[in-house]
Amino acid sequence: MPGLGVNIDHVATIRQARRAAEPDPVWAAVQAELGGADCITFHLRQDRRHINDRDARLLRQTCRTKLNMEMSTAGEIVAIALEIRPHQATLVPENRQELTTEGGLDVLANSKRVAEATKVLADAGVVVSAFIDPTAEQVAAAADIGCHAVELHTGRYANATAGAESDEALADLANAVQAARRAKLIVHGGHGLSYNNIAPVAAIEGFCEFNIGHSIVARAIFVGLAEAVREMKRLIDRSAKR
Ligand code: PXP
Repeated sequence: MPGLGVNIDHVATIRQARRAAEPDPVWAAVQAELGGADCITFHLRQDRRHINDRDARLLRQTCRTKLNMEMSTAGEIVAIALEIRPHQATLVPENRQELTTEGGLDVLANSKRVAEATKVLADAGVVVSAFIDPTAEQVAAAADIGCHAVELHTGRYANATAGAESDEALADLANAVQAARRAKLIVHGGHGLSYNNIAPVAAIEGFCEFNIGHSIVARAIFVGLAEAVREMKRLIDRSAKR
């Protein structure tokens, strides 16, 4: 059964709206775990727009499940990852102007830089995943440079209109999952997944974990974070092939 990684960045986004102490993303991680999260995900961005260094360090000390740090390959961020040693690092592209991570990491075009970051992290015992578009070329590039895992970008599926466009995006995801499995990579998925669109993706065989943030934090405003996580877990469990 695929696990659920809960991305808590947007709890910190609310805190930073007032440069205040609350809500604390570290508390959010505890609530998410109480709701059944299998992994806590955070993105320490170079501009520290939401999660900051204090959060990252405390999360490492308090997380009881698995800690997944989304990160760019910038030297400063790699150094922090080597100090904190999350269980997993997910390498993502980072652009200061973007509202959220937009496309996947182009591992093919940036293979030297990505390979260097992958090697130092892997040597430190961190599981390295690359957030990539769901194409055979990117899967092969991630495998070639020594990544342990890939996270397939589900954004095109999430933004597709129902019908042919959505079916095509799902087929691309299913093909990329197969390519990644053949390359012996662990397969995660994420971006834009919600209570409304998770079922068809969770039904694709071969995903190990989904990383979901915005939709869960948004629902948490109405039902609380632990319950929001429980509801998403139920949807994944119900849809996944047994
Ligand atoms: N996976 C990755 C690599 C991401 O960058 C993000 C956004 O931070 C997510 C998953 C979660 O996306 P969303 O907030 O749309 O669920």
